[in-house]
Amino acid sequence: MKECNCVFLIFGATGDLAHRKLLPAFYFMERENQLKDSLSIVCIARKEKTTEQYRKEASDSIRKFSRIKVDERLLEKLVSRIYYHRLEFSDKKGYAGLSRFIEKISGQKSGNCERIFCLAVPYSLISHVLGSLKNAGLAERQKKGKPYCRIMFEKPFGHDLKSAKELNSSIMNVLDEKQIYRIDHYMAKELVQNLLVLRFANSIFEPLWNRDYIDHIQITVAETLGVESRGEYYDKAGALRDVMQNHMMQLLSLVAMGAPKSIDADDVKNEKVKVLKSIAKSGFSGNMAIGQYGEGIVEGKKVAAYASEPEIRKNSGTETYAALKLGIASKMWKNVPFYLRTGKRLKDKSTEIIIVYKHTPFGLFSKASPEKNMMVIRVQPYEGITLQFNAKVPGNKVIIDNVEMDFCHECKFGPNSPEAYERLLYDVMAGDQTLFTRWDEVENAWKIVDVILKNIKKLKLHIYEAGTWGPKEADKLIAKDGRKWVEPKRPAYAEQLGK
Ligand SMILES: NC(=O)c1ccc[n+]([C@@H]2O[C@H](COP(=O)([O-])OP(=O)(O)OC[C@H]3O[C@@H](n4cnc5c(N)ncnc54)[C@H](OP(=O)(O)O)[C@@H]3O)[C@@H](O)[C@H]2O)c1
Repeated sequence: MKECNCVFLIFGATGDLAHRKLLPAFYFMERENQLKDSLSIVCIARKEKTTEQYRKEASDSIRKFSRIKVDERLLEKLVSRIYYHRLEFSDKKGYAGLSRFIEKISGQKSGNCERIFCLAVPYSLISHVLGSLKNAGLAERQKKGKPYCRIMFEKPFGHDLKSAKELNSSIMNVLDEKQIYRIDHYMAKELVQNLLVLRFANSIFEPLWNRDYIDHIQITVAETLGVESRGEYYDKAGALRDVMQNHMMQLLSLVAMGAPKSIDADDVKNEKVKVLKSIAKSGFSGNMAIGQYGEGIVEGKKVAAYASEPEIRKNSGTETYAALKLGIASKMWKNVPFYLRTGKRLKDKSTEIIIVYKHTPFGLFSKASPEKNMMVIRVQPYEGITLQFNAKVPGNKVIIDNVEMDFCHECKFGPNSPEAYERLLYDVMAGDQTLFTRWDEVENAWKIVDVILKNIKKLKLHIYEAGTWGPKEADKLIAKDGRKWVEPKRPAYAEQLGK
């Protein structure tokens, strides 16, 4: 029996998220000496298995999915913290058994342990699990001087505004906002965290970050993957719920927010929420295109159409692609369009934010057709920033060419930036909510996406060939404004990285 200071409980421990992300992240933390000696990890699911069996499966997954080479001695140390407990989540009485299990492994009353409940389960089960944890005395509001009790869970945060509100109020019946850690793993990506520094620690960029200098902003989240094994979930969700409501609204609010009073979590979130509220206030013009992938060639391999993927409903009208134009009703962004697009089975995997600047007002070189300056922020892959500007080509005539200046994150800081979950697990244990999503961010993002979702019912769903950049209608959407999508490309430094 060891003294228990902290119990980390993974609900849904036999699932994909636990095996691919959570367990390897724990290995990293073990290696970095970030785990308290007294931490136990209780892995919970409904399958019948012993702790020994689960430890073996966990070790296999860590070896398979860890981004760093596994040292067997450290792996053994980590798995010795892991216990498996079988629980059918709908069995209300089973939670008393879980409480006894915690007491058995810790030798302490479960309420005297620090508890983190990580709910890697379908979102429809979250309220039920949390309510049962409350009834068993495991989940409770934070009391002064008492060990902490926190919950963390991934998107989706509901299916629409109404269900998100219901889910939230059921959680708030048990816990306070300060105990709730809503994960948007995009927030933990290095280049996303870097956005605040880029914007507010650089006097060469900060004064230009507004409508006076910026022509428009593009945000692209492109995947080459199809629905993989998540067909049932995805077919009910679609691109707008799966990516636009969370990752893209987070990126957009970070790019467009005004300067926060400080870098404290709440000050930053207050500014992000102002952006989301302004978008909701602007209304949605209906400028949008949606699509669904047909068959095609992706990364050299023939792939099936969405309609023939496993678990997809016959004649499904789910969008796997969405492109839209939004405006922000604020002094800073009046008349600056934000073009957002996301899709599955596109030509390349790429998440980029592109700031396109206005032409200089003088027009001195207009005959040489200089291009608009651009800043490309590569969130993934090839993490880094490229500045594109105009330069004179050597010679007697004034011929202008577009040149690039690169910041390659990995070339400068090395290849081993923490993975999102490594950072998020560290933060939840440290009680730092900065990279997690506050309820009013979720609520206001849903207010925007709810309106968009109503709009798509009126739209035609265009089938696009897998391995392209999506339906032509998305090109027309931006071309109407005399602009075009900036196609993600491999930066010059990719070669240096051997990628
Ligand atoms: N996987 C990802 O990369 C990812 C990314 C973003 C968000 N998410 C979200 O994270 C959550 C988990 O995703 P996942 O991909 O890990 O799902 P998954 O592979 O389907 O795993 C679900 C887990 O929940 C358990 N479970 C389901 N119903 C249960 C019940 N009634 N009683 C006890 N255990 C039950 C399953 O246990 P058994 O195996 O014992 O049945 C399994 O361990 C979902 O909400 C998902 O949308 C996942």
